[in-house]
Amino acid sequence: MIAFDVRHHASIASTNDEAARLAREGAAHGTVVHADAQTAGRGRFSRRWSSPPGNLYVSIVLRLDLPPARCTEIGFVAALAVADAVEALLPRQVRATLKWPNDVLIQGGKIAGILLENATDALILGIGLNVLQAPAGLPYKVSTIVGCGGLATVDGTRSKLLAALSDWLTVWQRDGFAAIRGAWLARAHPEGAPLSVHVGDRYIAGQFAGLDADGALLLDTPEGRTRIVAGDVSLTGRG
Ligand code: BTN
Repeated sequence: MIAFDVRHHASIASTNDEAARLAREGAAHGTVVHADAQTAGRGRFSRRWSSPPGNLYVSIVLRLDLPPARCTEIGFVAALAVADAVEALLPRQVRATLKWPNDVLIQGGKIAGILLENATDALILGIGLNVLQAPAGLPYKVSTIVGCGGLATVDGTRSKLLAALSDWLTVWQRDGFAAIRGAWLARAHPEGAPLSVHVGDRYIAGQFAGLDADGALLLDTPEGRTRIVAGDVSLTGRG
């Protein structure tokens, strides 16, 4: 179990920025920045992450001695941890599903976002998890733990999430990325699912063909099998 050291703030610009600052000053593996609200919360591709009170915003300093090319593995570890934490707080029949690269969906809505950034020799793992507040005005469906029938507080959700993260990091360290990849695939859309991937300024449509050994998305398109390392995925079939 990682000995997490939680630094709590009522409001901060971005927990990822504060965790990066602490990491540059030498903060230890497992240092956690938690804010009740963020005024400049960031998502992937520099998008804004709406951060009102009522949801969980945390960034964790990880010192894993990983080459940069393998840092994406931690996004899959984090998605599994979020899925376990959320399922533990929801009625038993409500299950989390995973969408490449790091989205966690409940009842078809995105319940959490994961942002990985480097800070010198540390990795900053930022997680935003909707507990009570469904952010408005987003171009995709969102869900919250409480809205899906769960019983949760923000601090209780943080405890569950950190415990699950510690467990999945142990699996990753012991069994390698192959085990993480297998666990992720078991909770993701099935092979053959129709997907549309937004990459830069174009959309690539095809059928999900699994993950490469390094976590890249494999998509079967009319032009053949395509390997995608970054993009936004939409499920285009039913569900
Ligand atoms: C995404 O675009 O899906 C990723 C969103 C990540 C948001 C979290 S909230 C805590 C941490 N601080 C930030 O500024 N961003 C991440």
